[in-house]
Amino acid sequence: MIAPSLLASDFGELRRTVRRINGWGVDRIHIDVMDGHFVPNITFGPQMIASIRKATKLPFETHLMIENPHRYIKEFVDAGSDIVIVHCETGREVMKSIGLIRRFGARAGVAINPETRFAAAQHYIQRVDTLLIMGVHPGFGGQKFIQGSLQKIRQARERADKTGSDALIAVDGGIDEHTGRQAVAAGAQELVIGTALFGASDVHRFVKNLKKTYGAGLRQ
Ligand code: DX5
Ligand code: ZN
Repeated sequence: MIAPSLLASDFGELRRTVRRINGWGVDRIHIDVMDGHFVPNITFGPQMIASIRKATKLPFETHLMIENPHRYIKEFVDAGSDIVIVHCETGREVMKSIGLIRRFGARAGVAINPETRFAAAQHYIQRVDTLLIMGVHPGFGGQKFIQGSLQKIRQARERADKTGSDALIAVDGGIDEHTGRQAVAAGAQELVIGTALFGASDVHRFVKNLKKTYGAGLRQ
């Protein structure tokens, strides 16, 4: 699966961008919410998500890089998020967030930062629909992929297979054709792509090539 990250697009054109994405042949839209506390950057909130919801039928995957995410789950689901992802580094309230996401009718995910050991997130694998492995330190697009994340993808894949979990293993940050291929070989099933996708000279060809090259490797 491919999920374009809107973070790499022009925020003044969001609705038009989402309409354009409809023709790209991608699987979901990744929406990065940042609060200036959990990460040193600020993006947007539920109102913005609600205002682009009608522009597409593609699922919205909302990646919450905010402190105390449990306080805002209802707002983000009501705004039209189909999948809501919270960070395992947000502390004791992660299970509460997962419960709320489900209760309000969305699918739940947990994200894990590069400096966090896989052991801190492994027990969520049977409780979530998506495990999102960060390929960069969250906060900004356009960073270089941290190679150590590949090992974490392998660990996640192994753990999911071992426990019979059908959680989707996703990777976010620093993904281009090269690192995307590495991530898929390590067991990733979803690639979140910002800079490389929005910067592609021919986005249709980019998506088509990715799907063709990786199709055989995808374990879905
Ligand atoms: C980083 C975000 C990512 C980011 C990926 O904090 O979570 O979704 O937009 O962008 P690229 O592909 O540019 O690394
Ligand atoms: Zn993200």
